[in-house]
Amino acid sequence: MGLRISPSILSSDFGHLVAECERVAGAADWLHVDVMDNHFVPNLTIGPVVVEALVKQVTTPIDCHLMISDADKWAPGYAEIGAKSVTFHVEAATNPRQVARDIRSKGARAGMAIKPGTRLEDYEDLFPELDMILIMTVEPGFGGQSFMADQMPKVRRSREIIRDLKLDTWIQVDGGVAGATIAECADAGADTFVAGSAVYNTPDPVQAIADLRATAQSATDASWWCAH
Ligand code: DX5
Ligand code: ZN
Repeated sequence: MGLRISPSILSSDFGHLVAECERVAGAADWLHVDVMDNHFVPNLTIGPVVVEALVKQVTTPIDCHLMISDADKWAPGYAEIGAKSVTFHVEAATNPRQVARDIRSKGARAGMAIKPGTRLEDYEDLFPELDMILIMTVEPGFGGQSFMADQMPKVRRSREIIRDLKLDTWIQVDGGVAGATIAECADAGADTFVAGSAVYNTPDPVQAIADLRATAQSATDASWWCAH
């Protein structure tokens, strides 16, 4: 069972952004880029101009996590500028089904994120439209927050849906994912792991990714959902 590690550059040194991205090249499967608009979340990061520059400069595919209002209007544009995966928040979308279709039609993988307070049950029928479901394990907006283990039932439920419908939708977790928490995410059913501070706030990000991957892999191999 292949799993993916997507380091979040939110915890990297923005003064040397391209170098920070290239630091994990070869070790990271994806590069998680957090776009925040100071409206959907109380923080402001980067927008399409910088994302497009990163797409051109960086070898690892970009996994764009949009924490912005009016996803219907803005999300497809991130696919157009070359992000290989674009994740919008369902809370910020008027017509999430259409947003997912628009992202796919621009050639990117379509991801849909849900905040900790949002019920998964209300959106289960959207799974066939999605290449990835992102279960947030912190309130979106900032790196370095504590992992919310109470979100694991949503990961588990997502895995059941994907298994029952025989889908190839990835399950991503984002927020507080680290050496001490990644195993329970994998055990619950996650296969795509975002880690910001657990990668970039260490002396050796490449080693940190390898350690996270090994821990997630053993938990996956021993999990209820992994086909042996
Ligand atoms: C938070 C962002 C995360 C953040 C994770 O809203 O979506 O991607 O960078 O940071 P850590 O891994 O430090 O919790
Ligand atoms: Zn994120």
